[in-house]
Amino acid sequence: MKPTMWAVVLAAGKGTRMESALAKVLHPAAGRPLLHYVLDQCRALEAQTVVVVGHQAEAVRATCFGLAHLSFVAQEPQLGTGHAALVAMAEIPDEPEGAVLVLAGDVPLLRAETLRELCTLRQKTNAAAALLSFRTSRPGSYGRIVRDEAGRVVRIVEARDATRQERLIDEVNASLYVFSGSRLRDALHRISPNNAQGEFYLTDVVGLLVAAGERVEALVVDDPAETAGVNTVAELSLVERELFVRRSMDLVRSGVSIERPDTVLVGPGVRVAPGARIRAFSILEGRTLIESGASVGPFCRVEDSEIGVGATLLDSCLVRNSKILAGASVGPFAHIRPESVVGENARVGNFVELKKTTLGSGAKAPHLSYLGDASVGAKANIGAGTITCNYDGVVKSPTFVEDDAFVGSNSTLVAPVRIGQGAYVAAGSVITTDVPPEALGIGRARQENKAGWVGRRPKKR
Ligand code: UD1
Ligand code: CA
Repeated sequence: MKPTMWAVVLAAGKGTRMESALAKVLHPAAGRPLLHYVLDQCRALEAQTVVVVGHQAEAVRATCFGLAHLSFVAQEPQLGTGHAALVAMAEIPDEPEGAVLVLAGDVPLLRAETLRELCTLRQKTNAAAALLSFRTSRPGSYGRIVRDEAGRVVRIVEARDATRQERLIDEVNASLYVFSGSRLRDALHRISPNNAQGEFYLTDVVGLLVAAGERVEALVVDDPAETAGVNTVAELSLVERELFVRRSMDLVRSGVSIERPDTVLVGPGVRVAPGARIRAFSILEGRTLIESGASVGPFCRVEDSEIGVGATLLDSCLVRNSKILAGASVGPFAHIRPESVVGENARVGNFVELKKTTLGSGAKAPHLSYLGDASVGAKANIGAGTITCNYDGVVKSPTFVEDDAFVGSNSTLVAPVRIGQGAYVAAGSVITTDVPPEALGIGRARQENKAGWVGRRPKKR
């Protein structure tokens, strides 16, 4: 039987350089905690995963609630990456042929394919360990990969312990490894905190293995961004940008048309059907669903909402916790507040705000309206500037506009009130009592024209 693949994710550190009380791996990037991205890759490799927790251990555990093949081990106090790995190994059975991945928790751009490549390299070369490295002109605080004249990895030296000569080495340690489980276990018991930081370094394992005659391989990755750890808020924002671009490109490959994918931000819980179109500078968040043939944007934000088949969200709309049904058109510049439903083929035009309002199929509210706590029937027409007065300062009341009703422009519907089926409301009315079906409601002063008034008015001096 194939031995279980294990993964240890190091996530006990605080992440001092994030300048935040929040543990580093909990910082969100593109809508998810940093840690989740590494866990995704562990899952892709079908690895049984042990997360080493320390700082804000409870919060870290809580964000992983419900994830399968995952356990936690507390590292207290945090005596270094080698100590963290040792604590985790206590949770992992000693299988002679088993492999253990050890991964930092702060590398969200890492891909499963790269880890697979790393595992293959170790197997093919029969090495005790294989690690990911990358070349950089600014090796800074990274551990340096020391190789011998033949180019074989000899050890890793941390920047603070390195000689001036070693610090010039431009190949650095990404902190992503795969080990033979038993070799790792042996070596971890032999490391000491005899270094500049007084910590147990996981990196010392490499030198110990090589000294014991084992082979260690380093896979130099082409794209250093993939293995770059997030240490600062600036690095977090760069990584987040890349995560969003990747998400957009994944959608594009699945058949979604995205205009300027570098400007479109799609959250992790969002589903977009092939055949939908997302225009530039739009943001889709929460549990949003965009159906096939729908078009969203430019400059729209949709949160926790459904945009139905062939529906259109024109420029600069905000839609939250609502449904825009098939064939409907909304915007430009509409605000659809929670619990609203825009019915099939209905139309909401510019500068219209809906709150907890349902528009029936084919209903229209084309211009400058506020409809709150309202239920508008099929094919009803809401004239420009119509407002529901749904709040008297104490309670909210409903407005009903029944099917085929026609509400003239600039009407004020004082709720609770009902405009009956097929009824008309004269433009400029203040409607305080129900209008029966098929009736005309007029609620305004009658116009009076004063003939010749201009000639009688006081003259300018
Ligand atoms: C580490 C490597 C360094 C590498 C760099 C890449 C060591 C000694 N050095 O340095 O060679 O170039 O990563 O980013 O490993 N952690 C724990 N418990 C601890 C200490 C750390 O779980 O006691 C976790 C941290 O939360 C983090 C990871 O281990 O996820 C790496 O720790 P960090 O302190 O960032 O290591 P570096 O000093 O950056
Ligand atoms: Ca680091």
